[in-house]
Amino acid sequence: MLSTIRSQGALHWLGRQLFNRDDPGAFFDPLLAVLNPMWVRGFVPARLLDVIDETADTRTFRLRPSARWQGFRAGQHVNVIVDVDGVRQHRTFTISSAPSQWRTDGTLTLTVKRHPGGHVTHWMHDHLRPGTILGISQAFGEFDLPPSGQPKPLLYIMGGSGVTPALSHLVSLAERDYRAPVTLLYYVRTQADVIGAETLYALAARWPALSLHVFATEEQGEAALLNEQHLDAVPGFAARDAYLCGPPGLMDRANALLARYGVQEEQIRCTFFSAPTAVAADTPLGGAVTFARSDIHVDSDGDAPLLEIAEAAELNPAYGCRMGICHQCSCRKTEGTVVNRLTGKASGPGEETIQLCISVPQGPVTVDL
Ligand code: FES
Repeated sequence: MLSTIRSQGALHWLGRQLFNRDDPGAFFDPLLAVLNPMWVRGFVPARLLDVIDETADTRTFRLRPSARWQGFRAGQHVNVIVDVDGVRQHRTFTISSAPSQWRTDGTLTLTVKRHPGGHVTHWMHDHLRPGTILGISQAFGEFDLPPSGQPKPLLYIMGGSGVTPALSHLVSLAERDYRAPVTLLYYVRTQADVIGAETLYALAARWPALSLHVFATEEQGEAALLNEQHLDAVPGFAARDAYLCGPPGLMDRANALLARYGVQEEQIRCTFFSAPTAVAADTPLGGAVTFARSDIHVDSDGDAPLLEIAEAAELNPAYGCRMGICHQCSCRKTEGTVVNRLTGKASGPGEETIQLCISVPQGPVTVDL
């Protein structure tokens, strides 16, 4: 009798634990991870097959995700989930392979540069070996290729490891036998820093639509920084659709030059490697922040986003990319105004979902955290 009461109590307790979770299956993950890491439910397990050296500080990781992974479009990203020194970390990386590879052999590649001060990227380079199981999210992002149909001339302006979405795009376009002109202006420190060199030079040799121009800023000096002459050398560039990805300095320069030449905003697609700040220097920022569920009240000053303010208050909100791409940090704001660091625009004063990593308080703000 006593054991029946105990087992009923245990079942009720388990029911409560599962009921309070977004993904009840993930409750069993610690056990499943020991039995077979490919069975975990909280993310898609992916087995690392190969590690390929691209440059001195960049490696490509080839992964085979479990059958639950739903595939991707060229230019999309995934969150990678790894446990680093006992702490679960999420980071966003762009898929550098083409969707056709996944359809053919069930694999994808992530090309990861060691970022100075980037604890997780260093850990990945130093610890990930073939056979390791890591977690990935489903793919997300809107850095999409133009639809099939009437091919339009395209211009890619990429810098450093920002070339990864272009690798996926260009292979996909070549597979489509895209006939309109495609130009890639690729900015690196030295020729030895070209990522995906084998793929890029092979594409340029066999696909007549592609013009590839590599500018090595440390070797060629000032003339290798993006400037008017680089754009003037691209036939009809102002009428092309443009794709931009790279460090903030290059992105700012590219956006300013394209705007000066009259390229319309809707012709330009950007994806970021770190959150740019579009907030004007004279915009008043900061204010009293209330994390309502945790009953924490703090003052913020300057342009710190709510994610950093929450972490400074010793909260642990979920996050992935920290640059406004993945929506992992989405959270309900119940009162107050925030300024979006990507657009520089202020929100309304009422209740809405915001991304903590790019939302800067403008006056008092209450967040459901
Ligand atoms: S952490 Fe990715 S959008 Fe905020």
